[in-house]
Amino acid sequence: MAVLDILHYPDERLRQETQPVPEVDEDLRRLIDDMLETMYTASGVGLAAPQVDHYIRMLVMDTSEDRSQPLALVNPEIVAATGEQEGDEGCLSLPGVFEPVVRAAEVTVRFTDREGHAREEVFTDLPARCVQHEVDHLEGKLFLDYLSKLKRNRLRKKMEKDKRLQADPA
Ligand code: NI
Repeated sequence: MAVLDILHYPDERLRQETQPVPEVDEDLRRLIDDMLETMYTASGVGLAAPQVDHYIRMLVMDTSEDRSQPLALVNPEIVAATGEQEGDEGCLSLPGVFEPVVRAAEVTVRFTDREGHAREEVFTDLPARCVQHEVDHLEGKLFLDYLSKLKRNRLRKKMEKDKRLQADPA
């Protein structure tokens, strides 16, 4: 397994369109395992393929306390969403940024799992928030798109400045 590089906002590749996964094969399983390794290393609860420069409809997540329940969702589709929850959200592509976002409290998701089996699962609370956040990534959408324009511009300037400092630490 390998730890992959995570793209950081405002990298335009995070806005790129994604393609459906035609089949679950060995290459895809390797990417799933690498993405899980990358997510755990970065202490995240979810990671979507475009964040590691792969423009396909696939995401991984693990919202368990002890990091023992890895899950891969291939071609996920939210088929039902109910209720409302508000909570702070973060993203591995926006390190250090946490802002409140309103999401559905419960979602029903159809997807194919790592073994290639078609599944339908109901997610609530944090797992529901995580799935909605990661599916957004597959649409080129980031959680800061839900924030006010003022807040978004402020964050963008901060991220661009951090990037410049990283590129040229002097
Ligand atoms: Ni994210």
